[in-house]
Amino acid sequence: MEGLSLGGRTALVTGGAGGIGRAVCADLAALGARVVVADLNEDAARRTAADLPDAVAEPVDLADPASIDDLAARTGHADILVHNAGVSVVEAFAESDPASWDLMWKVNLRAPMQLTRLLLPGMRGWGRLIFISSDGARAGSGGEGAYAATKAGLFGLAKTLAREAARQGVTSNVVCPGPTDTPMVRAVAGEHPGLLDKLARQIPLRRIGRPDDVAGIVAFLCTDRAGYITGQTVSVSGGITMH
Ligand SMILES: NC(=O)c1ccc[n+]([C@@H]2O[C@H](COP(=O)([O-])OP(=O)(O)OC[C@H]3O[C@@H](n4cnc5c(N)ncnc54)[C@H](O)[C@@H]3O)[C@@H](O)[C@H]2O)c1
Repeated sequence: MEGLSLGGRTALVTGGAGGIGRAVCADLAALGARVVVADLNEDAARRTAADLPDAVAEPVDLADPASIDDLAARTGHADILVHNAGVSVVEAFAESDPASWDLMWKVNLRAPMQLTRLLLPGMRGWGRLIFISSDGARAGSGGEGAYAATKAGLFGLAKTLAREAARQGVTSNVVCPGPTDTPMVRAVAGEHPGLLDKLARQIPLRRIGRPDDVAGIVAFLCTDRAGYITGQTVSVSGGITMH
C-alpha cells in the first residue's frame, strides 16, 4: 500500500514516554519519522528514544509556558504534532480542588494551544495536528468533570485549526481513547479493585484498550493516505461509546 511512509518527517509527541505516547512514538518511527519524545519524565523519555531508530528525548513541563517556549525553540520545526500528554485528577466535581483544575487546564488544553501556536506557522505545505482527547469528554465520566472540560476544549480547537490550516496543507484531528491499559488507568484502578474487569464486561469488544489500539489510528492519520481527513474525532474504545 502506497502513501504510508513518514520518511523525512519530524514528529513531536508530548507525553511520549507514557503508555499511549510510547506506542505512538514506536508506530511513527516504524513508518520512518524522526521522533521527538517530549515528556516531563526525562529518564523515561530517554529510554523511549533509545529504543527507536531516529529519535531524541526532550524534557518539558507542559504546565510551564516558559518550558514550552524552550521546547519549541530547541525543536525548531515539526511536521507532525501529537498532543498526547494529559493529566487526570479524579474527584467528584462538588468536592474538587480548583488547584487541580488549573493543572489540567494547563497541561491538557493550554499546552496544546501554545505548542500549536509556536510550531504551526512553520508547517508550510504539509502538516499533521493530532489531539488526544478522551471519550470521557464526549460522553461524560464520573469524577472527571474538570478533566472532561479541558479535553472537550480540544474538540473546538482542533476543528477550528482544521478550517484555518487547511490551505497550508495541514490536517487537524482528534483521537479519543476509551479506557486503555496504561499507568494512568492503573493508578485509578489500584484504588478500585475489580474496576478493570467490570469495565471490560461493559465493552462490546470485551476488553480494555491497549496503547497499540490508539497508536494505529494516530499513525494512519499522520500519513498521506489520510490527507483528506480533517476536523474529525475518532473514538478508540471497543465500542463502549458510539457517536
Ligand atoms: N489511558 C486511558 O484510559 C485514557 C483514556 C482517555 C484518554 N487518555 C488520554 O491519553 C493520553 C495519554 O494517556 P496515558 O494513559 O498514556 O497516560 P500516562 O500517564 O501513561 O502518560 C502520560 C504521559 O504524559 C506525561 N506528562 C504528564 N504531565 C506532563 C507535563 N506537565 N509535561 C510533560 N509531560 C507530562 C507523563 O510523564 C507521561 O509520560 C492523555 O492525554 C490521556 O488523558 C487516556
